[in-house]
Amino acid sequence: MRKQALNICKSIIKWFRKPIVKLLGFNLVNKHTGVYTAQDIAIAQNFSKVIKNILTCSETELHSYDFILRQVTDCKIANMPGGPGGENFGKWEKYINPSGIGLIQSPGEFAEFALYLTDLKIQNAVEIGVCYGLTGYFLCALLQRVNPSVKYYMVDISESNLFCFDLFANILNIKKYIPATSEFFEGEKFDFVFIDGDHSYQGVTGDILNLGQHAQVCVAFHDVYGHEYDGLSGGVCRAWQEFMANYKERFKAKVFSEYPDKWLGIGVGEKI
Ligand SMILES: C[S@@+](CC[C@H](N)C(=O)[O-])C[C@H]1O[C@@H](n2cnc3c(N)ncnc32)[C@H](O)[C@@H]1O
Repeated sequence: MRKQALNICKSIIKWFRKPIVKLLGFNLVNKHTGVYTAQDIAIAQNFSKVIKNILTCSETELHSYDFILRQVTDCKIANMPGGPGGENFGKWEKYINPSGIGLIQSPGEFAEFALYLTDLKIQNAVEIGVCYGLTGYFLCALLQRVNPSVKYYMVDISESNLFCFDLFANILNIKKYIPATSEFFEGEKFDFVFIDGDHSYQGVTGDILNLGQHAQVCVAFHDVYGHEYDGLSGGVCRAWQEFMANYKERFKAKVFSEYPDKWLGIGVGEKI
């Protein structure tokens, strides 16, 4: 009975799809799960507004931490488990999206990192591990505002969480490579490489060897203080420490962190 009702709903949506897409500006039919919920639609509409804000922002706004932070908090953040020492989002809690979909980032450190990127000359970028894709859409919008011809490649082993890709592909220079891993691009030289996929030591090290070490402007790693991955042969923390030691002649390290040595953290190796 429930299945029948769902099928009728799907047919109605399919039937009215074209006028609805025209009205809302995006596709209501989720290729993977069937139909987006009202909450998903609200998130997508909200996120579209943020992306448009970024693409049309002034030069002053583009280099303003407050402006970027406001866009980040307007996007909402994903509902993630806290850090291993009981760390949580504290003041950012009110920006968590209860449905779970959002940037898988802590707003303060992510806004600082995004601001840092706006000063770099980036022609092409690759993010390994995109999940919902919202971080990718956000960073691509910023880089595209700086350089309208930038190309942003999104890589993941699974498409099951990717949110409204087609909607954002209409306005952003994004391209998805899913399912794929960094191995597919082995040895390619991207200006900006963002490593946030397999969080095991072997996984991160593989991403460094395949892509990170070849970054022309910078390579970034999410979770350089993510001790919840220590059990995976040392996880991101160990891989980051080794990267800083082994590549110090080629990359200058810096970290954006609100929870130093405890949780999350975005480590960046900037090409010297
Ligand atoms: C923490 S999420 C990425 C979060 C995203 N970068 C963000 O900031 O919102 C990790 C993602 O990496 C993907 N993943 C796991 N192993 C991978 C691999 N070897 N290569 C590419 N992606 C991988 C998972 O499917 C998952 O979607």
